[in-house]
Amino acid sequence: MTEHSPLTPKTKLHGKVAVVTGGASGIGEATARKFAADGARAVVIADIQDEKGQNVAASIGLERSTYVHCDVTDEAQVAALIDSTVQKYGQVDVMFSNAGVPCESDQTILDLDLVAYDKVFAVNARGMAACVKHAARAMVEGGVRGSVICTASNLASIGTEKYTDYTMSKHAVLGLVRSASLQLGARGIRVNAVSPGPLRTPLLKAFIDRSEEEQDKMIEASLSLKNGRTPSVENVADAVSFLASDESEFITGHNLAVDGGYIHHPP
Ligand SMILES: NC(=O)c1ccc[n+]([C@@H]2O[C@H](COP(=O)([O-])OP(=O)(O)OC[C@H]3O[C@@H](n4cnc5c(N)ncnc54)[C@H](O)[C@@H]3O)[C@@H](O)[C@H]2O)c1
Repeated sequence: MTEHSPLTPKTKLHGKVAVVTGGASGIGEATARKFAADGARAVVIADIQDEKGQNVAASIGLERSTYVHCDVTDEAQVAALIDSTVQKYGQVDVMFSNAGVPCESDQTILDLDLVAYDKVFAVNARGMAACVKHAARAMVEGGVRGSVICTASNLASIGTEKYTDYTMSKHAVLGLVRSASLQLGARGIRVNAVSPGPLRTPLLKAFIDRSEEEQDKMIEASLSLKNGRTPSVENVADAVSFLASDESEFITGHNLAVDGGYIHHPP
């Protein structure tokens, strides 16, 4: 086995240039670190939390990681993110489109606030589409057989009693992944989704506004898998790195749940 064999875990992303949106926090931060640990040549972290994003990039190592301010609701900023990545590193091999926001309040369809709905959709659906569009264009133009991964959610596959706009926006992510995978497959570009269950991140706290103890109870109740472990952002990062790597070279259009079995037995 050579140092850079695809069978060597530390180098499974050897030579790849990866972009991570929402990379300043939570799942995105953990995945940026995992990409670097798995041997990516460069990791570009995009977010709107500049200080946090710069700190993540600096801690990964500035020769291999860059922070770019990018609000995914602004298509020009998304295009600039991809252009600057290609200019600096030559190509985009992996796009982890992950930036997302929670809904602002518990809403059933009876009291759905359509202004809030637009804000959620602007990031979770429209922003996701802009990121996939511009990353895929760069892959096509560069002749790169790349991998695109989008963060959906366990709520992308079920209805909810509240969280209407968020649930709808995550269903849209699966529609994007399935359509784009079909459209890009002939060019060797793969598009998959990852669907976490509830995890302790700033997004979950904003979402449910419950005490830490209540959040832990809710997470525990969501798991059919009882292995004594609490699910972590690193569990999702591991799955994303697999989808980014050539180890998943024949997987596309898939929604990979990383949720301890939630989706099969929602509480
Ligand atoms: N935490 C959970 O329980 C959970 C479960 C299922 C899915 N998800 C999804 O995981 C993804 C990551 O969320 P997280 O839990 O790590 O939360 P997080 O709040 O830790 O991270 C989200 C990141 O997205 C960034 N962001 C928000 N709006 C943005 C914009 N317009 N442009 C660029 N960046 C923006 C934020 O600044 C933040 O750094 C989201 O898509 C979320 O919907 C989270």
